[in-house]
Amino acid sequence: MTARNPKLFVKSYGCQMNVYDAERMADALAPEGYVAAESAEDADVIVLNTCHIREKAAEKVYSELGRIRKMKAETGRAPLVAVAGCVAQAEGAEILKRASVVDLVVGPQSIQRLPELLRQAKAGARPVDTDFAVEEKFERLAAPAPKAIRGRGVTAFLTVQEGCDKFCTFCVVPYTRGAEASRPVAQVVAEAERLAAAGVREITLLGQNVDAYHGEGPDGRPWSLARLLYRLAEIEGVARLRYTTSHPRDMDDDLIAAHRDLAALMPYLHLPVQSGSDRILKAMNRKHTADDYLRLVDRVREARPDLALSGDFIVGFPGETESDFEATLAIARAAAYASAFTFKYSPRPGTPAAERDDQVDDGVKSERLHRLQALIAEQQTEFARSLVGRRIDVLLDRPGRHPGQVAGRSPYLQPVQLPASSGSVGDVVEAVVTDVGPNSLFAAPAGDARERPRVLVEATA
Ligand code: 5AD
Ligand code: SF4
Repeated sequence: MTARNPKLFVKSYGCQMNVYDAERMADALAPEGYVAAESAEDADVIVLNTCHIREKAAEKVYSELGRIRKMKAETGRAPLVAVAGCVAQAEGAEILKRASVVDLVVGPQSIQRLPELLRQAKAGARPVDTDFAVEEKFERLAAPAPKAIRGRGVTAFLTVQEGCDKFCTFCVVPYTRGAEASRPVAQVVAEAERLAAAGVREITLLGQNVDAYHGEGPDGRPWSLARLLYRLAEIEGVARLRYTTSHPRDMDDDLIAAHRDLAALMPYLHLPVQSGSDRILKAMNRKHTADDYLRLVDRVREARPDLALSGDFIVGFPGETESDFEATLAIARAAAYASAFTFKYSPRPGTPAAERDDQVDDGVKSERLHRLQALIAEQQTEFARSLVGRRIDVLLDRPGRHPGQVAGRSPYLQPVQLPASSGSVGDVVEAVVTDVGPNSLFAAPAGDARERPRVLVEATA
């Protein structure tokens, strides 16, 4: 009889970088025999990969730890419990004091040390590792096995840059993820080649400020994100490239040109603006005005007219007046978003804006959030409707919602439902958008004359 493999359950909160880190943790433990658990209840090791960006996100970890403590008491099971991610980085040993159920704390830059930390925890220690060791992380990150990559599908994240030196006055990231650091080009290319060889068709490059990427190239000099994208597009099998998240200050001419010239680079840009009021942008230390942002968006759209723009907004930053907020509505209208994320300002300990004594009342924040969300929802529907009758490429990435359907993503990142006869998962197929649902587009293969709508407009520039 073979011994049972230990089971790992990783629950990730927050951004896509945490999703990436969660996969790397699974990859680091795979050589020790760990397999994925279905749920926390049947795991031998539970990792909560946490987010600290807003208060609500950070609180979730403690309620989840409460549930785990109850589950342990009720079932008599004794899984090891690890807290990872940005709350781990921000609170460190405090977590051990506050939650006795926690066996180890590991920050986002130390995840490659997880196997060793688990050994220490098993021996009864309660280790805390929150070093800022990002270079070591990048060098020693566990590479995924081809089988693990295939199990994750035909799209993948690849972190190329971590940390931030911008110090927006609302944001904890410079404190939780540390100073900005880029992975060397050779490391990124090797990982992308590995992904592509295992069937990945779309790679999204991740970084808190991904457009500030300046990793060391094979020539010993720093390469820009644009240059890296051109190199990755040469890899056999890579059909689509994306990158997120960008800062307006770091969008250089080469990157804008890549949107015009590089077919694999998808016409989608996540470019947070946060506010449309110059007064608030200044108080946020964003180092750009509303007009700078709109001019930049214009330039990217000149390069790629069908660009789908996405962004982030914060409402109720300290001191925000009704007229500041109206400027935010105005910039959202002017920029014509295809989608956007909207947040109520959440004071974060240790950040300058949290110290201000002109905090906005929560009721006012909720009301503004509601108005902004209504506008964004309208824009999102309008953008989706503008695609009806157009030809788009769809990357088929999973079985459909209903039998007889296959699902994929548009170049603009929208979910698309197609007839199963359109192709197999991993194919990029040409399709015509026939209808818009609440959360997805419906499309038919472009060659299928019966489904072809009367009006056909070319979608791509
Ligand atoms: N409160 C609310 N939203 C925040 N974000 C970052 N910090 C805060 C905060 N303190 C938002 C920003 C950022 C996104 C990742 O989260 O919009 O772009
Ligand atoms: Fe949350 Fe920011 Fe950490 Fe991502 S990097 S998990 S958004 S605090």
